[in-house]
Formats: sequence, structure tokens, C-alpha cells
Amino acid sequence: MFNRPQIGIDLGTVTMMACRKGREELILEPSLAAILEGGTEPAAFGQEALRLIQQKPSSFTPVQPIKGGTIADEKSAVELLAYILNKTGSSRSLFSRKPEAAVCISTGATDVEKRAVVKALYISGAGRVRLIEEPLAAALGSGIAAEEAEAHMIVSIGGGKSEAAVMAAGRIILSHTARTGGRDLDEAFSRFMSENYNLLISPSTAEETKLKIGSAPGFHQSESYVIRGIDAVSGLPRSVEIQPSILEKIYEAPLKKILHTALRSLQSLPPETSGELLDRGVVLCGGGALLPGLASWMSDIMQIPVQLSPCPVEAAVKGASLSFNLSESGESL
Ligand SMILES: Nc1ncnc2c1ncn2[C@@H]1O[C@H](COP(=O)(O)OP(=O)(O)OP(=O)(O)O)[C@@H](O)[C@H]1O
Ligand SMILES: [Mg+2]
Repeated sequence: MFNRPQIGIDLGTVTMMACRKGREELILEPSLAAILEGGTEPAAFGQEALRLIQQKPSSFTPVQPIKGGTIADEKSAVELLAYILNKTGSSRSLFSRKPEAAVCISTGATDVEKRAVVKALYISGAGRVRLIEEPLAAALGSGIAAEEAEAHMIVSIGGGKSEAAVMAAGRIILSHTARTGGRDLDEAFSRFMSENYNLLISPSTAEETKLKIGSAPGFHQSESYVIRGIDAVSGLPRSVEIQPSILEKIYEAPLKKILHTALRSLQSLPPETSGELLDRGVVLCGGGALLPGLASWMSDIMQIPVQLSPCPVEAAVKGASLSFNLSESGESL
């Protein structure tokens, strides 16, 4: 009989990722659906949805299927998942069985949220679904031996959430989550521009600014950057030149919320486990971890080494697809 294709999936607020076991290729699509104005059915998903929404003028409105790792809009989530499964080449045909999905789930997800994820996967075409806690998946994808008896700590910073977890012997000992991620840095910047310069900017301009000149406090990027937007009073296009040092200040409040999740985990540990982490340090993953200077800013405050995963963005999805090997060889997840 034919085997089921095995697919690792990371349901991101910003990016949905899938990786079919045994294949190198990573499927990566914006977590987005586009609805034609006045309609109710999503007309496009992923990259195509983003293109339609960013057209000027656009008659499409965005729908966000996933927020903070859980289902925010079931209908669009199911259709986006079906679209992604199809892209992995695992949709059901005459000669194949429905795929088996290993899906990353936040340690902060409630039972209701977990059931919603499982249900969405089944409706979208999966034949078997199992959940893997995202920090364990990220550890596996980063090449960290989470099954060791000694403790490891992972801090994952996504677009809509952050998660700090300490694990040992293949299990999460404790974790803390916050609904704060890279998008909150962008929102803080948009608010600042509106309140201080009367300049309204799009979410993509706020994110682009972060990617060009953003950094954590103390990193000191030097090049200034021109921000284009719309004058809140006249409604006319206007631009403002800003210095990167201002971004460090604007990002400080949301970054402190993220840091707080890590500190809470660290402070809740028994002394011998803290001692293990003192030498080993913390591994950062998720797209938000790529902010220049973040690892050293966190390390200075937490007073332990902090380093970036070798594959911060795709660690969790890679780990989810690798988790099939563990369960097949009888190891626990
Ligand atoms: N070089 C970079 N510097 C700073 N931030 C970055 C960089 N690259 C990506 N990001 C940010 O990372 C975030 C997306 O990360 P990621 O893809 O891990 O999130 P996600 O998995 O979709 O969301 P979540 O896990 O919160 O549900 C975005 O806010 C993006 O702006
Ligand atoms: Mg994520």
C-alpha cells in the first residue's frame, strides 16, 4: 500500500511554511487571503493575495487566517492550508494517500485552539494530524539535542508572538509566551510617525524601515532613511527623513515585553538548571530574532550567552518535518 506523504507545517502569523519529509524544498507563503470588496469568499492566498492587496488601487481586502500561531479565521485558514498542502505535492491523487501533518503549536495554545488547528488540517485534506510544541520543533530544526538530560533554552520571536521555553530530556520543562512579535515593532513605529510627524504610513513601509535600518538598543546603525507616507491633515504624499537611533528608542518597549518572557522563564528555574544554561546560553529563532543587535542586547540584560539559531526562520518547520524520523525510531517528541 502507498505511504502517506509526511509534511511539517509552521502556521505563522506572517509566514506559513511547509516542508515535505525527504525533500529539501521549503514552501513559504505569506499567511494571507484576499477578498474582493463586497464579497465573502477568499479570491487568492499567499503570495498572490499579497500581490492583489498591494496593487494601487486595490479592490481586495486582506484577511489574516492565523494570529499568534492559532486560527483567527477558520474559512481562510482551511483554504490557505489546502493551498499549501497542494504546493507540497501531497494532495490526494489516485495513487497516494492523504498526507500526515506534523504541525507546530505554541506552548501557550489552549485546548480549544489546538482542536481548531487539528480540525482545520483535517478539513484542508490531511489524513492524519499531530501537534508538536514549537520550541521542541525549533530545537530539532536548529540541531539542538533537546533529548539530552541537560537543559536547553529557546526563545522564538515571530511576527505576532514570542515564546521562551526551557527543555530537557525531550520535554518542555517550562515556557512563557507573549502576543508580542516583530509586527508590534512595526506598529510602534507607525504610531510614532503619526503622533510626531502627522505622517500615515503603510504596514509594509514600517516593516521595510525595520529591515533597512532597524536595530535593538545599543547597536547604533548609522544611515538615515527617508520614510514616505501621507500627510494626515492634507491627505497629500509627504516624506520624512529619520535617523536610526530613533528606532532603537521606539522598539525598546515591545522588545522589553519579549525579553520579559525569556526572563520569566529563566527566573522560574531551579538553581542547577539555571547553572546549566549559564554555560550553554539561549538560542534565538524566528524572523524577529534577525533584528541586528538583539542577541547581544538580550545577553547583556539576561547575563547569559545568547546566540542565533543556524536557521532562525525555518527552524520550526524543519524540526516538524524531522520529527517524523524521531517517532518512527521510537523516540519521544
Ligand atoms: N532581518 C530582519 N530584522 C528584523 N526583523 C525581521 C527580519 N526578517 C524578518 N523579520 C521579522 O520577523 C517577523 C516574521 O517572523 P516569522 O516568519 O518567524 O513569524 P511567523 O512565524 O509568521 O509569526 P508567529 O510565529 O508570531 O506566528 C516579521 O515581523 C518580520 O518583520
Ligand atoms: Mg512562527
